[in-house]
This record gives sequence, C-alpha cells and structure tokens, in this order.
Amino acid sequence: MGYKVAVVGATGNVGREMMDILAERAFPADEVVAVASRRSQGIDVSFGDKTLKCKALEHVDFSDVDICLMSAGSAISKEWSPRIAAAGAVVIDNSSCWRYDADVPLIVPEVNADAVTGFRKKGIIANPNCSTAQLVVALKPLHDKARIKRVVVATYQSVSGAGKEAMDELFSQTKSVFTMDEPQVKKFPKRIAFNLIPHIDVFMEDGYTKEEWKMVAETKKILDPKIKLTATCVRVPVFVSHSEAVNVEFEEPITADEAREILRSAPGCLVIDTREAGGYATPYEAAGEDATYISRIREDATVENGLTMWVVSDNLRKGAALNAIQIAECLVSRKLIAAKRKAA
Ligand SMILES: NC(=O)c1ccc[n+]([C@@H]2O[C@H](COP(=O)([O-])OP(=O)(O)OC[C@H]3O[C@@H](n4cnc5c(N)ncnc54)[C@H](OP(=O)(O)O)[C@@H]3O)[C@@H](O)[C@H]2O)c1
Repeated sequence: MGYKVAVVGATGNVGREMMDILAERAFPADEVVAVASRRSQGIDVSFGDKTLKCKALEHVDFSDVDICLMSAGSAISKEWSPRIAAAGAVVIDNSSCWRYDADVPLIVPEVNADAVTGFRKKGIIANPNCSTAQLVVALKPLHDKARIKRVVVATYQSVSGAGKEAMDELFSQTKSVFTMDEPQVKKFPKRIAFNLIPHIDVFMEDGYTKEEWKMVAETKKILDPKIKLTATCVRVPVFVSHSEAVNVEFEEPITADEAREILRSAPGCLVIDTREAGGYATPYEAAGEDATYISRIREDATVENGLTMWVVSDNLRKGAALNAIQIAECLVSRKLIAAKRKAA
C-alpha cells in the first residue's frame, strides 16, 4: 500500500501546485487529502484527473496521515505542525516558521539530501525560501569545484511569491492602468503594475529586509556556514518565476567555460547560455518548468576568481511545491518512513 498525504493550503498558489506535482510525478500515494481553512470547506480542488473536496484543517484526523505538506503560512504552521507531527505524520513545511530551528532540517535535495534524517527530532522538515532554493541549486556544484567565499545577489521576484491575492493585485492594477482607473494598492506597499518594489517582507534593524536576511541564513544552513552573502530582494511585475543576478567570488580559480560545463551536468540545473539575442532564460519560459535555468555565465575581472550569472526558476515549483515533493520522495526512496496502513 502507498502513503496517505495531506496538503494543507491546497487552495493556495503553492498548494495547488503541490496537488499537480503529486499527480504528475505519480507520487506513491494511496490517498491525498486537500486541506485549507474553513472558508474553503467543501470546495473542489483538482488532483490529476480527479476532483477532491477540500476539508477544513480543524476537521482532519492526522493519525493515519504519513506525510503532511504544509503550505498555509507561518502562523498556521507554528500552531499546527507540532500537533500534526505528534499525531505521527512527517510535516514538510513551506513557511519560514521552522527553517532556522536547529532541530529542523532545511532541505534542498540536490544540495543536502543527507541532512533529511534530522527530521526525527521534531517530525518537521523545512522547505527554504523560494529565492534561496534556486540559488543554492546553482551554487552547490560551483562550490564543490572552487569553494565559494562571497556571493552578491539581486533578485527579481514575481508576485506569485506573495500568494494568490498578490497575483490578483498585479492583474487588477494592470487592468486599471489600461482603463485609466486609479490602481488600488492593498497587498504591496506601492503600486506593482509597471513598477518594481525594492522591499520584500519586513525591515530589520540593519536596514536589510527579512527576505534578504533569509537568503543569508538559509544559504549558510543548507550549503556552507562559511559563505558570505549579501542580497537585495526586489518584487517585479511578473506573475511566475524568480530571477537572480548572482556575483560569486571563489577561493580557487574557475573559468566561465568550466562553470558552464559543471552546471550542464549538475542535478536540477539547465544551462541556456549562447551569448546572442534570446540565448538566455527569462521568467516567462521558466514558468511551469522544474529546472533552475542558468544563463549569462561570465568572468568578473574586478575580483580574483569571480563569476557572474543569471539564475531563473519557477518559484512555485522549485521554490516551493516541487522541492517539498522532492523531499517527500527522498523520505520514501531512502526508506525513512513506512506507510502506516501497511504497518497496521
Ligand atoms: N509562493 C511562493 O513562491 C512560496 C515559496 C516558498 C514558500 N512559500 C510559502 O508557502 C506558504 C503558502 O504560500 P502561497 O503563496 O500558496 O499562499 P496563498 O496563495 O495565499 O495560499 C494560502 C493557503 O493557506 C490556506 N490557509 C490560510 N489560513 C488557513 C487556516 N487558518 N487553516 C488552514 N489553511 C489556511 C489558504 O486557504 P483558504 O483558501 O481557505 O484561505 C490557502 O490554501 C506561505 O507560508 C509562503 O510563505 C511560498
């Protein structure tokens, strides 16, 4: 028998993607339960060619659930993940709630799959921030070759990273501009249509935003605590896929050609880099795809052993839902969990 999987947040941007990816990859589930808030109780959620009725979180019995994919924000995760784990399900959480907890592994399977065994301490595994996930997929193979000293990254993050209401806001503001109405600003601090906003998540005391801090803390936890990183995170009027301009300084020499060759055979990476018009990836093409696209790889002559590159990926897939399901696949392939019903 296969596993019983619950998707909490199944009506959201990430949750809907999780339902699609579970079906697409034929995850070995006997039963999938779609869960959201009371507002969504009874509504239809698609899962492959089936339709599931959404349940309210408070009404779900997790005692026979094997894996719970959580994607309902930090506050819900803080309250519910320990309860769900105590009921015996392994929780794979998409929020930032558990990422920095020393007893919770933070996993990108292409980078640190071996750390997944740490889930036994709390029964929770954390999924990184979307910008970090695609960054570390691209950095890991280069770090293995030439040891990264410092990374300077600027992100161009799509509105889907802020949830479904944020996507609606870009859509309605864009429409308002064309119909000469005043765009309504609700979710973002300023108008996002035909604009960009250098501010994601709250400001911290040192002037960085929490989103920028997350990239530093998570890269250290997943890849190497010795790596220095500074980030500027920017919201752009793109619906899906985050892009990143990444400058890397290495301990050892590495050429652009070597980096290109390494990345061509690295797990999760897809190099598109032909140095001509259109010979690079853009967020539009990356949407709906699993790969982390790497383009514009070039040497940076202003530092010793420097490279600059452009990294693009679908934030709802590699940045969230796909990564979470890859973690679940890791638990299954490494035989770290057994289906409860089989054991019964
Ligand atoms: N979007 C990204 O790129 C991305 C990447 C990495 C991580 N994440 C994280 O993933 C989580 C979800 O993000 P999202 O973009 O999918 O947000 P979203 O589109 O706003 O969806 C939120 C989901 O949470 C559910 N929810 C809200 N309150 C709930 C409650 N009290 N009980 C049960 N379910 C509740 C919602 O259900 P209703 O429809 O019933 O309200 C909905 O299914 C967040 O923690 C986010 O930080 C997102």
